[in-house]
Amino acid sequence: MSKSRISIGMLGMGTVGRGVYRILNENRDGIEQKVGASIEIKKILVRDITKDRGLDLEQGLLTTDAGDVIDNPAIDIVVEVLGGIKPALDYSLKALKHGKSLITANKDMVAAHGKELFEAAEDNGCDVFFEASVAGGIPIIRPLKECLAANRISQVIGIINGTTNYMLTRMSEEGLNFGEALAQAQSLGYAEADPTADVEGYDAARKLAILASIAFNTRVPLDQVYLEGITRITAEDIKYAAELNYVVKLLGIAKESEEGVEVRVHPALLSKNHPLATVNDVYNAIYVCGDAVGDVMFFGRGAGELPTASAVVADVMSAARYQLRNVPGIVSCTCFAEKPIKPMGLTSTKYYIRLNVADKPGVLASIAFVFGSNEVSLASVIQKQITGHAAEIVLVTHRVLEKNLQDALKIIKDLSTVDEVSNVIRVEE
Ligand SMILES: NC(=O)c1ccc[n+]([C@@H]2O[C@H](COP(=O)([O-])OP(=O)(O)OC[C@H]3O[C@@H](n4cnc5c(N)ncnc54)[C@H](OP(=O)(O)O)[C@@H]3O)[C@@H](O)[C@H]2O)c1
Repeated sequence: MSKSRISIGMLGMGTVGRGVYRILNENRDGIEQKVGASIEIKKILVRDITKDRGLDLEQGLLTTDAGDVIDNPAIDIVVEVLGGIKPALDYSLKALKHGKSLITANKDMVAAHGKELFEAAEDNGCDVFFEASVAGGIPIIRPLKECLAANRISQVIGIINGTTNYMLTRMSEEGLNFGEALAQAQSLGYAEADPTADVEGYDAARKLAILASIAFNTRVPLDQVYLEGITRITAEDIKYAAELNYVVKLLGIAKESEEGVEVRVHPALLSKNHPLATVNDVYNAIYVCGDAVGDVMFFGRGAGELPTASAVVADVMSAARYQLRNVPGIVSCTCFAEKPIKPMGLTSTKYYIRLNVADKPGVLASIAFVFGSNEVSLASVIQKQITGHAAEIVLVTHRVLEKNLQDALKIIKDLSTVDEVSNVIRVEE
């Protein structure tokens, strides 16, 4: 080994950056012994160097000049924990072009610009690691790329957004409605003031695009991930689901089939017996099916200062080992195939449908007729409550084609006896 020291430059010193600094300092002995060299943080880019970070930082360590990190010839590895696309992408590409390996926790950047980052790394003989970009502290990127590499993966299903999992857990356990659960998540710091990225499913979609790309060795564009958030889920849906022996979870689902790769993020009813059904609060879990290994599940904390930094520092250690042995650039992109994305209309699941209808004879028969004519067969019909002349009913279908279900719903919405299609939720088996 030619070097005895690895120098790191950090872009960002917020929640994750602080955790990286703490782990590298608090666990220094073990980390350096495992790597076989000393590891030094040389410069950290921030917006405001006067901000109190609650750490005893060496004078001159912080900088507001990105060049001190990305153009600094003394720095071997750059840790990008700024977040967002701009300026993180420009800085990351520049660091790679200077031959520095890149560690990032940035799902937005990896999901939208992974190809550019990998190509820049390959062209310049360095590595890109991004374990923390999906499910924080849970090891899932490297297990998919390496430990499960011998398998054909058939599906990856994950609870990959802690905020919405916390909210759905509170709605389920305390009967809270959506607004109350969101307020609770915000007061505990689990949800941001603007919760759109979490509750509308964007955050989970980015993570799913990354997971699916690795699992199926094909680049899954973010805009091809079908997306539905949890804003329409009510306390009633959760209660009725429980009566039917299901829990409601926001799932990221990626499956491979003959028609292509299916990638969808949406709330789903999941049997209480499914291993993911017991994953509650802010915890995340990813369930993977491989042809050789069978079913495996990865569970843990999907966010937070130290859990996320745990994954970032492990990536730093891998990059350092490769640099010390003069073999950077051996972790290449695994998207070697070009597979189509399966159109959503061709996917099939069971469905839970809640309707408000007129409480009079023949209504159910007319609804069942529309479903039947569109090849949607019903597994159960339950009348939940009657108020005045209206009745609330819950239907569960057999496994049907999404397109057929949507065609039937278009007609049902317009029936004079149907006041409202209150909710439609897929049932994942
Ligand atoms: N937080 C988590 O639990 C978690 C989990 C998984 C992945 N991640 C990912 O990790 C990344 C970092 O998240 P975070 O929660 O640590 O973010 P954060 O707390 O907002 O920290 C961002 C840091 O970047 C600095 N920064 C931002 N824009 C900058 C700019 N234009 N120039 C210079 N410095 C800039 C900020 O400087 P100042 O401190 O001076 O403002 C701050 O130190 C994101 O990609 C996020 O998605 C986070």
